[in-house]
Amino acid sequence: MKGPDRDPGAGPSGALAAAGHLARELVDACGRGARAPEHVLEACVACLITGGHVMIEDAPGVGKTVLAKALARASGSSYSRVQCTADLLPADVTGVTVWHQGDDSFRFHPGPVFANLVLVDEINRASPKTQSALLECMEERQVTVDGQTRPVPEPFMVIATQNPVEYEGTFPLPEAQLDRFTVRVSLGYPNAAAEATMLLELAGKDALEDVPVVADARALRDLQYRLADIHADAALADYVVGITRATRSDPRTDLGASPRAGISLLQMARARALVQLRTYALPEDVRTMAPLCLAHRLVLSPDARARGVDPVEIVDDALRATPVPLA
Ligand SMILES: Nc1ncnc2c1ncn2[C@@H]1O[C@H](COP(=O)(O)OP(=O)(O)O)[C@@H](O)[C@H]1O
Ligand SMILES: [Mg+2]
Repeated sequence: MKGPDRDPGAGPSGALAAAGHLARELVDACGRGARAPEHVLEACVACLITGGHVMIEDAPGVGKTVLAKALARASGSSYSRVQCTADLLPADVTGVTVWHQGDDSFRFHPGPVFANLVLVDEINRASPKTQSALLECMEERQVTVDGQTRPVPEPFMVIATQNPVEYEGTFPLPEAQLDRFTVRVSLGYPNAAAEATMLLELAGKDALEDVPVVADARALRDLQYRLADIHADAALADYVVGITRATRSDPRTDLGASPRAGISLLQMARARALVQLRTYALPEDVRTMAPLCLAHRLVLSPDARARGVDPVEIVDDALRATPVPLA
């Protein structure tokens, strides 16, 4: 399966090649700050390009905050951070209208969601009410306070974090809400050699120091707009549908991946193609993105849950069971 031949030097395909280079630069720039596996960096940048949101599930101290800040800095985005606690109120996130006595008027004080890139740390510590206010901003890209609706800035991306081992005093997000996250990634621990190098390099140094600014909001919007020009074959859509359907018929799931998940997966495959400097998406893009896009959205059967089945395994099995479209 090959895309139509294009001359990278001229016309709209020249713009597409330039977009690919910018996407690549964003990945490399993030990697100068956050030491993370290449596919995680690519997934975060691809997610930004699709206009989606990222969930990072990881232990403390592995570089989640550094990753979010590096992406914000590299992309020239405004950045804010919300630390979730059980007593965090929806208004602490969205903002409040305050009466100003001096000039006899109400003024809106925007909350932290009014930034291009919002890091929501430990989202599962927030109350369901605050979680739902956040998820609404993510979905609607706007905030309504005291009857007034205001759009959040574009581009807009939430990076939420969750600690996979600490559950006490938390409100786990139901799968229906996890479905709002385009991908779930984890940085994991580096191998011993990489960790030792990191210790030496980062001692007494700001991890973000070396991250260059390679884009701005306008360039990002243009990048998002170019995504539609990445060719995806009808056979590739069939492939995605085959995979999502396989997760639905798997006896270990009560609910498999939704069409919304399939749309996300195809878009993420396109965005990965862009990051890989291609003008067309390949089955390989789908295969790389499928576990990140689908696993967190599956609702396991009570039996599979009791046996501690990892949903990533179910996605891997769906990939094995679905014939790959021929090149
Ligand atoms: N993968 C990583 N890449 C870069 N720096 C890291 C990484 N992991 C840990 N660090 C260092 O450790 C510190 C804590 O990382 P941080 O991003 O705040 O962790 P987390 O948000 O996951 O708890 C950072 O300031 C950075 O110096
Ligand atoms: Mg942190």
